Amino acid sequence: MAEVTGSNEFQGKEESDSSQENKPPFAEQTGTSLNISQKSVEVQEKPEVFGGPIGLDVGTSNIVMAQNKGAKIGIATQLNAFFAIPQSKFTGQILSQNDIVFFEHNKQYYIIGDSAENFANMFNANTRRPMEKGFLTLREDSGVAIIQAIIKTLVQRPKKLGEIICFTVPGEPLHEDHKFSSLDGHESVIRMYLESLGYTPIAINEGLAVVMAELGDENFTGIGISIGGGMCNICLSYMSVPVIMYSIQKGGDDIDESVSGEVELSATKIKGIKEGGLDLSALPKNNVELALQICYTDLINHVVRSMESVFSSSNKIPKISQPVPIVIGGGAASPKGFREKFENTLRSVRLPFEISSVRVSKDPLYTTAKGALAMAISESK
Ligand SMILES: Nc1ncnc2c1ncn2[C@@H]1O[C@H](COP(=O)(O)OP(=O)(O)OP(=O)(O)O)[C@@H](O)[C@H]1O
Ligand SMILES: [Mg+2]
Repeated sequence: MAEVTGSNEFQGKEESDSSQENKPPFAEQTGTSLNISQKSVEVQEKPEVFGGPIGLDVGTSNIVMAQNKGAKIGIATQLNAFFAIPQSKFTGQILSQNDIVFFEHNKQYYIIGDSAENFANMFNANTRRPMEKGFLTLREDSGVAIIQAIIKTLVQRPKKLGEIICFTVPGEPLHEDHKFSSLDGHESVIRMYLESLGYTPIAINEGLAVVMAELGDENFTGIGISIGGGMCNICLSYMSVPVIMYSIQKGGDDIDESVSGEVELSATKIKGIKEGGLDLSALPKNNVELALQICYTDLINHVVRSMESVFSSSNKIPKISQPVPIVIGGGAASPKGFREKFENTLRSVRLPFEISSVRVSKDPLYTTAKGALAMAISESK
């Protein structure tokens, strides 16, 4: 692993233990004491070290770390992106002096995380990503080194050797349109790295993480959905046990690219407009907004129709006597009017159980990290 400049490491020995794997989370515990949905979030500029279990959301667009910070949840994030520049001693010094996070690899400097976006903008170019559609990409030669370096900016060695870290993984894609969709390969790269730092890593499905973060009051029973940058993850959970989990390799990135293709603006610009306050409940004011609305309608339709087909054809559906809630997290669920659009689309399909409510989580960008933290805490007890 290449040395990262700009992160503050601390000491711990290397050890691995993944024996707690695959235990149904919270199975022997009651819901309320593990309910973290009411806790408020404090976003940190620089990750602080508090000790204790960690939730880590390894997403296509963002990596998010969550840890208990007193009565709150401390959150630190890093863009899962990089920008490569030619290596030179002089440039290295300037970057270090300016607190730019970078590392040296293959005779290049890789500027990683949030700093990469600033560089890309200056060079009028796009950042590159170590992940694509939810999984590590084979397109980038140094993808593994880069993702490790980005994680290292957020997760230092544990204070206590063998501390639990719970990290998110996607569900198996419904229609594999990605060359490297091997969940095992992706998961083991992340797991091995976290083990090498001295943690006991436990994987949690991203949709289940949404359930863990948000459905404490409903005994962790319901459907958790994450609408991210690279994919959508869907999980039907009964009392915290995942019954059905799958993913669709479409998300916010596809919206940016599709709209960009229609209106001749770069995908980065479209992303900015989209995140700047898109309102899906209002009439579009221009061609970009119209294209964004069309793409959102398409994405929501895709998710809702997949739920109809997967749930209706499954023989694993539990006999649930009460209607179940749907909770949606992930950054791409942020726009105003998303919930209403999702709920309206849901009316056009038939599911094998009734839905009690549809809601978007309070902090969509942090929901899966919070859910992973809830799981890490329960596994640490
Ligand atoms: N306010 C916003 N309005 C609309 N979209 C947003 C907003 N904020 C973030 N997004 C979009 O959310 C997506 C990133 O969400 P998130 O961080 O949950 O994804 P991820 O976990 O990194 O990816 P994935 O789960 O697909 O692997 C991007 O497409 C981004 O443009
Ligand atoms: Mg995600």
